[in-house]
Amino acid sequence: MIKPRVQTKNPIPLYQPLPIADPIAQSDSPQPRRVYIETYGCQMNVSDSELMTGVLTRSGHRIANRIEDADVILLNTCAIRENAETKVINRLTQLSHRKRKQEDLILGVCGCMAQHLRTKLVEAAPYVDLVMGPDAYRDLPRAINSVASGDPFINLKLDKTEDYADIAPIRKDGLRAWLTIQRGCDKMCTFCIVPFVRGRERSIPLPILVDDVKRLVDEGFKEIVLLGQTVNSYNDGKHDFGGLLYAVGDVDGIERVRFTSPHPSDASGGMIDAMANCAQVCKHIHLPLQSGSTRILKKMHRTYTAEEYRTLIATMRERVPNLAISTDIIVGFCGETEQDFAETCDLMSEIRYDSAFTFKYSPREGTLAHRSLEDDVSEKEKGKRLRTVIELQEKISHEINQESVGKTVEVLVEGESRRQSDNYQGKTDNFKTTVFPKENAVVGDLVKVAIESASAHTLVGRITV
Ligand code: SAH
Ligand code: F3S
Repeated sequence: MIKPRVQTKNPIPLYQPLPIADPIAQSDSPQPRRVYIETYGCQMNVSDSELMTGVLTRSGHRIANRIEDADVILLNTCAIRENAETKVINRLTQLSHRKRKQEDLILGVCGCMAQHLRTKLVEAAPYVDLVMGPDAYRDLPRAINSVASGDPFINLKLDKTEDYADIAPIRKDGLRAWLTIQRGCDKMCTFCIVPFVRGRERSIPLPILVDDVKRLVDEGFKEIVLLGQTVNSYNDGKHDFGGLLYAVGDVDGIERVRFTSPHPSDASGGMIDAMANCAQVCKHIHLPLQSGSTRILKKMHRTYTAEEYRTLIATMRERVPNLAISTDIIVGFCGETEQDFAETCDLMSEIRYDSAFTFKYSPREGTLAHRSLEDDVSEKEKGKRLRTVIELQEKISHEINQESVGKTVEVLVEGESRRQSDNYQGKTDNFKTTVFPKENAVVGDLVKVAIESASAHTLVGRITV
């Protein structure tokens, strides 16, 4: 854990609300800076970094593609598990050496970990100049100016109305664009830090999102991934998530629409309808289970039972043929017995997920579980249970992928395969990575691939007509 160290020399001023009406605090510094953003954690953070790029560029700063070229380094951080924070603390130690050599280098920590650790972060890393939570990115230009004139800057105000709807993110060119449709989370799962670091749930109005998607299609994007902490609880006061899926799928020129991550308790008929009926909406859902034991789900405040989850999966499979399903699993949560864990394995075997992200429970300061439940599964036992679920899932994924051998799948050609430059790789509609010889295909094409072999993670084949 982070040990407090000496307090920074300059006390960090408390946040003052901006006195100006402009949606982005303008840089009044004549000196444009070159800013390097390093992103940690989930796709929401990747999307936030694109937003930060938009804010910075609009206010006259430039983005550095290499850290060596930067005079401002911003780490956009994650707080979801302890190891995510440890990674950033280690990185900060490395960067402190760089800062010693490059005196005017500005070093900032943004995002969830900044919001979580607050002043503890400054105590642990007193050389950090700028600390900013996920609702404060409009303030980036002002923050850089402040630090440049000698005053460290901190803004950790959570703002339940901030949706950045008026700020255009700047993305790297590509085929897949991530579009944040909702910020924050109202669910309060007892293990999770997200509601504390990202605040209350808010949805961006549908007409704005549809315009964003039209613009993305014009820019050449073929696939849109709608992002939110509980993406399917989307509600802008007039439209729900099902309505949004139809509206986005209807945009001319869009090939594929995905979303992540929905919450089982918010899975409405409208969402399932759109998945079943709208050709553009991909037949894949990432539906976090967390545990197969109703007793543990209750302790986690997940708001569904194992039985309700099982019924939901059955309904979805019936309504959406060939639906691929992936999930998140936490092992070793407070009070998880051998029996509870066996129920998780049993449900995984019964549902047969296409893939799963599996985690050891990591207590997060500030959460209800940290405050009131005992982290009583030993680290060794957590490790053992994690290996068990990984092995189980690998076996199932392998078996499911084998079923594709001999079949033809449609793949969006995304780029060169990482391993072999004469191969392309891309994803199927149901999110399977597929590798195949390039032949005459071009990036951005939708091609038919006859599958010849498969592993737990990849399908391999060749283009067919
Ligand atoms: N609703 C969000 C959840 C974000 S966290 C989304 O689906 O994107 C992603 C996953 O991290 C969670 O589903 C959970 O499985 C895991 N997780 C969250 N808090 C955790 C903790 N304290 N320890 C271990 N895993 C955790
Ligand atoms: Fe976290 Fe539960 Fe929300 S996992 S993001 S509190 S739905």
